[in-house]
Amino acid sequence: MSPLLNDTFLRALRRQPVEYTPIWMMRQAGRYLPEYRATRSRAGSFMGLCTSPDYATEVTLQPLERFPLDAAILFSDILTVPDAMGLGLYFAEGEGPKFERPLRDERAIKALAVPLLDKLQYVFDAVASIRKALQGRVPLIGFSGSPFTLACYMIEGGGSDDFRYVKAMLYDRPDLLHHILAVNAQTVTDYLNAQIDAGAQAIQIFDTWGGALSHAAYREFSLAYMQQIIAGLKREADGRPVPVIVFTKGGGQWLEEIAAIGADCVGLDWTTDLGVARARIGQQVALQGNFDPNALFAQPQAIEHEVGRILASYGSGSGHVFNLGHGISQFVQPEHAAALVEAVHHLSRPYHV
Ligand code: CP3
Repeated sequence: MSPLLNDTFLRALRRQPVEYTPIWMMRQAGRYLPEYRATRSRAGSFMGLCTSPDYATEVTLQPLERFPLDAAILFSDILTVPDAMGLGLYFAEGEGPKFERPLRDERAIKALAVPLLDKLQYVFDAVASIRKALQGRVPLIGFSGSPFTLACYMIEGGGSDDFRYVKAMLYDRPDLLHHILAVNAQTVTDYLNAQIDAGAQAIQIFDTWGGALSHAAYREFSLAYMQQIIAGLKREADGRPVPVIVFTKGGGQWLEEIAAIGADCVGLDWTTDLGVARARIGQQVALQGNFDPNALFAQPQAIEHEVGRILASYGSGSGHVFNLGHGISQFVQPEHAAALVEAVHHLSRPYHV
């Protein structure tokens, strides 16, 4: 394996000194890039991209060719895991992801089991292929959905605004939801460890829907299962630590609890003040975020101004990985993303002298 040429991201996650604040963007490979759309049409479909290690490698590297990002993220999707469990993932044109066989009755739920990981071999092959193609330029992030976020799609059968089936199950039959979450947690642990074995150098757990839970339910139905996963992860590979980032969208009020589950870094959405978050938990963990992704619709000058505000809010010293507070929109102009990356690199240097 090539030596790592830029480890700024890994150092920031461990709160070690850096020369500038590293940046990557959630969903950095995606539809806002014309070269992504071209590759996707050659592959025929989104799943065609995910299941081919060559295509997955190509699109993972696309944003790095354009912008001097400090990390790459595996091109895949969180929903490949429930697909491997037999739920039948498909993407209806313009409708987002859907499952043919959502978990709605007790029999189907009781039959749910940890799948054979060889069903996800294409993901591990993609990780190995991307690591090779990166030639040590930047570290590669592997990822998974949180058990609760995966359960939302598995039970609703697709995206949802009201989580009607999930919430009904949570309050009527918490035992059934706990069974799904336990299977998901074991599967995600094995899946992430296999990504680490294949070459992933950091891990992010996407808890996109944890913030939809009540205060009382969050710890029991989302956080506890992420804690279980983290306890089961390999935390070192090739003699280097493999840092773990946990991102609960809408989790701002639970920062102390999230910081206590054993992750190295807590991801923040844009509704939390970064400086306040640092005062609350910055002694325990690194922080990632938290640029409003829709501020990328503004002009480059305004983007730079907002970057300056966020950097000032964090203040001096390491422990901050710059990111968006959620995934980049397909309607953002790539030039605006370029302005963001440039501003972070340039404006952050004075905070690291
Ligand atoms: O960050 C990256 O660049 C890596 C790739 C990545 C994708 N999905 C590719 C993708 C990652 C990390 C994800 C995670 C993911 N997928 C999450 C968690 C993070 C988040 O954004 O909240 C969730 C909830 C999903 C489920 C999912 N996949 C949805 C809701 C959709 C459709 C909506 C949308 O934004 O397109 C997808 C499809 C998807 N996953 C696309 C991409 C690039 C677009 C598919 C296409 O090309 O049409």
